[in-house]
Amino acid sequence: MPLYTQQSDLKHYLSAQIAANKTIGFVPTMGALHQGHLSLMEQSKHNNDFTVVSIFVNPTQFNNQEDLEKYPRTLESDLNKINQLDDSIIVYAPSIEDIYTNKTESTHFDYDGLEFQMEGKHRPGHFDGVGTIVKKLFEIVQPNRAYFGKKDFQQLQIVKKLVEKHHIPVEVVGCEIFREENGLAMSSRNERLSAEERAEASIIYKTLNQAKELFKTETPQSVNEWVVKVFENQKHFELEYFEIAEEETLLTCNTKESNKNYRAFIAVFVNNIRLIDNISLK
Ligand code: PAF
Repeated sequence: MPLYTQQSDLKHYLSAQIAANKTIGFVPTMGALHQGHLSLMEQSKHNNDFTVVSIFVNPTQFNNQEDLEKYPRTLESDLNKINQLDDSIIVYAPSIEDIYTNKTESTHFDYDGLEFQMEGKHRPGHFDGVGTIVKKLFEIVQPNRAYFGKKDFQQLQIVKKLVEKHHIPVEVVGCEIFREENGLAMSSRNERLSAEERAEASIIYKTLNQAKELFKTETPQSVNEWVVKVFENQKHFELEYFEIAEEETLLTCNTKESNKNYRAFIAVFVNNIRLIDNISLK
């Protein structure tokens, strides 16, 4: 499997493919690959001539030093997984210097307000870091299509906005959430959970499903109150936020409007490990 650690080498390789009019599918990741990532690669393989996967734990999108330090780094096993899926997938696993040269900092982006909702409120600077790295990677890889999971639904909407505002010629494809058997959304951070915590974390998706049922008959405020109560009774879990928001603008739903599509979003701490998930309320 072709593995590049330097953008100059990767760009050199890709320029020949671009000149030959080959379509490039791109899956940006921070490694610790799971089935969800592999499904993004499958989709990319299916719809493009070839696929590039990046593996880079981007420091500028972490607002919490401990989260950055403890983020799982499993390059060897990641490469094995990609190789098993398809040994023609091109991997870009750069160093911090290769991406940021000598200034590891993010650019500020205006995402028309999407950045002030949910994750934006709780992770200051996070979406500037995401925009910075995604824009840099798009410039290096120049993909025709890029694949993002809906677990980070706000990130997906933000990347779409970034592309629109900066006229980047890439189709951003949102892919369905992959779940463990117990419903827990797949996430690299799940690797930090003990077996017991992993089992107990099924409460997150269970609660989202029950919230979806309740939303059919109840107001958004009472669904909210119900979710808060559920987590008050869970001793290993701390609810950071639960919110019902409109899918496009991510604005909080105060009153239901029949022509709008809503999603319920949640962030929960399990012993300092932060997990997020969401569900369509359609
Ligand atoms: O979703 C992720 O893993 C990251 O935020 C991304 C898109 C790879 C940017 O670092």
